[in-house]
Amino acid sequence: MLVLYLLLVSFQYFRVNGQSFASNTKINPKELKCLVCEKTVLEIDRAISKISPDKMVEVGGFRLDGEGNYQHKTVPQSRSELALSEVMETICDKMDNYIRAIWKENGTLTLLSMTSEDGLMNPNWSDVDIIQDDDLNKSLKYNCEGIIEEYEEKLIEYYLDGTDNIAEQLCIEYTKLCHSKKSKDEL
Ligand SMILES: *[C@@H]1O[C@H](CO)[C@@H](O)[C@H](O)[C@H]1NC(C)=O
Ligand SMILES: *[C@@H]1O[C@H](CO)[C@@H](O)[C@H](O)[C@H]1NC(C)=O
Ligand SMILES: *[C@@H]1O[C@H](CO)[C@@H](O)[C@H](O)[C@H]1NC(C)=O
Repeated sequence: MLVLYLLLVSFQYFRVNGQSFASNTKINPKELKCLVCEKTVLEIDRAISKISPDKMVEVGGFRLDGEGNYQHKTVPQSRSELALSEVMETICDKMDNYIRAIWKENGTLTLLSMTSEDGLMNPNWSDVDIIQDDDLNKSLKYNCEGIIEEYEEKLIEYYLDGTDNIAEQLCIEYTKLCHSKKSKDEL
């Protein structure tokens, strides 16, 4: 409902401000997947950061110690497998806030968030041409769900391990969905 409202508001906004649309744009599926991968990790980071850091949960409480007592290990909820799985389950809904667009300046594909976290209109609207394409295979949610389906376990492992820069680890190193900026410059 909120999304629908935002869409209506933004299309109204386009009309008033003469938002331009890209025509006959060929979306490179690999490039799109790379961008979706990066945004998916960004949204997972945000979702996890919203879990209260003080909330602790017990994990693996079924082992007995030498005296026959249950061993309790507590971890922050944000570092529990259950909480992480729950985040993964709904994370692709966040893709509804993004739109595929082309930077006017250099013709590069980008995913623009319609609104920022605090609900403000993204200031970059006027610098892009919006892509209109109904092909489901190029939809952001579809690509996100594909990534989660395939790499959910790996993602959870990264978060449980407290891995640094998970977007780079997953999108460049592990899945090779994105090229590293370095190797691009070297080409
Ligand atoms: C294209 O322009 C945007 C906006 O200035 C910039 O963020 C992006 O890095 C540029 N991409 C390339 C490949 O130059
Ligand atoms: C607007 O574009 C700039 C340049 O690419 C980027 O650094 C910035 O994060 C963008 N702002 C938003 C709200 O997406
Ligand atoms: C979408 O992807 C599926 C599976 O890769 C493929 O079978 C189908 O033809 C694609 N649809 C379009 C419209 O490209």
